[in-house]
Amino acid sequence: MTEQTPRRSTGAPLACIAVVPPGLEEAAAAELAELGAAAIRPLRRAVGFEADLATYYRLHLRARLPFRLLRQLACFPCRSRDDLYAGVQQAADWTQWLPPQLSFRVDATGSLPGLGHSHYSALQVKNALVDGQRRHWGERSSVDLEAPDLSLHLHLGGGLAQLSVDGSGESLHRRGYRPRMGLAPLKENLAAGLIRLTGWDGSVPLADPLCGSGSLLIEAACWALGREPGLQRRFALEGWPDFDGALWVKELEAAAALERTTLAHGQPLAPIKGQDSDADVIDQAQENAEAAGVAPWLQLAQGDCRSFEPPEGRGLVVCNPPYGERIGERDQLEQLYGDLGAMLKQRCSGWHLWLLSGNPELTGALRMKASRRIPVSNGGIDCRWLHYEIR
Ligand SMILES: C[S@@+](CC[C@H](N)C(=O)[O-])C[C@H]1O[C@@H](n2cnc3c(N)ncnc32)[C@H](O)[C@@H]1O
Repeated sequence: MTEQTPRRSTGAPLACIAVVPPGLEEAAAAELAELGAAAIRPLRRAVGFEADLATYYRLHLRARLPFRLLRQLACFPCRSRDDLYAGVQQAADWTQWLPPQLSFRVDATGSLPGLGHSHYSALQVKNALVDGQRRHWGERSSVDLEAPDLSLHLHLGGGLAQLSVDGSGESLHRRGYRPRMGLAPLKENLAAGLIRLTGWDGSVPLADPLCGSGSLLIEAACWALGREPGLQRRFALEGWPDFDGALWVKELEAAAALERTTLAHGQPLAPIKGQDSDADVIDQAQENAEAAGVAPWLQLAQGDCRSFEPPEGRGLVVCNPPYGERIGERDQLEQLYGDLGAMLKQRCSGWHLWLLSGNPELTGALRMKASRRIPVSNGGIDCRWLHYEIR
């Protein structure tokens, strides 16, 4: 095990990867740029970028779209298992990053000749680390797959091995405001990304007549009112050897100071209205909105979407109706989509509709023509975020 000084905030940029929902790569790249990241490269399900330590902290507190923000510790040529083993041992000062009382886990993606199985590659990293620990300390860390102190990611490809650490620990989509969830909730970061794709700016009404646990509306309100997503939780990076507490507090205070009761320019937030036929689910949405601190701006009520009354003015309807995974549901769902289309045409003429569809046959029953179809993945289901102008 090599002895090195732990890397302090020297000003050298950190090479990072944001892991993002498939389909949101461009939107996530734009968000990272707004928050100060540099050298941004949208990839597949990921965005490469560079950041100084302050920006890396800021992204953990404020980025709404990523699942994880990985910080590269080392990138080295790798032609064999032995290269991987030796490269991992040289990759960092492990006496600082991983003393034996800390637990860890290793995830691996990609492949190289001789390293075709991710599971085996991850084991090779683990062996390199624990062998080094035994030599240095006479004891080793335990592996903890559920809640490790240090979460390592190995990516193999293009003749290179990249070893990174995960700054968040628990995924960033877990904001902490959603103790209870409906049956098929959207992840918070996907909901935030879908709202971002609509271009809604808070100045016109927003409605979800099948709102479930309220993810789309809550994420929209949090964004519009500067409720930053990372204020209520702990992050793995707070236990890293180069953690800069003063810098972290500075970013934390700056993020907390963004909270407002109006839009950024002082205009009031337009009405946000949600409805769901399931009374228990609406109670959950209300609890979640309260936990997120945006309940006063949301009007949530139990009711069938067929009887939905939109707020005054012209705005956006967003929704994620059931897709119908079970046999026997199809006819009922076709009827639901048909009735939803009829309600929208009757009561929301001049509004925009954004609908998340996991089943193109059902969206046909809306009897409306989509003007945009953005492919996204919702929990592994291939979906389209469809835009319609309601006439
Ligand atoms: C896929 S879930 C929506 C999930 C939501 N986007 C979230 O993140 O929690 C679909 C929702 O539609 C609701 N629903 C089904 N039929 C309805 C109807 N006729 N009127 C209103 N809501 C309905 C269900 O109760 C369910 O909560």
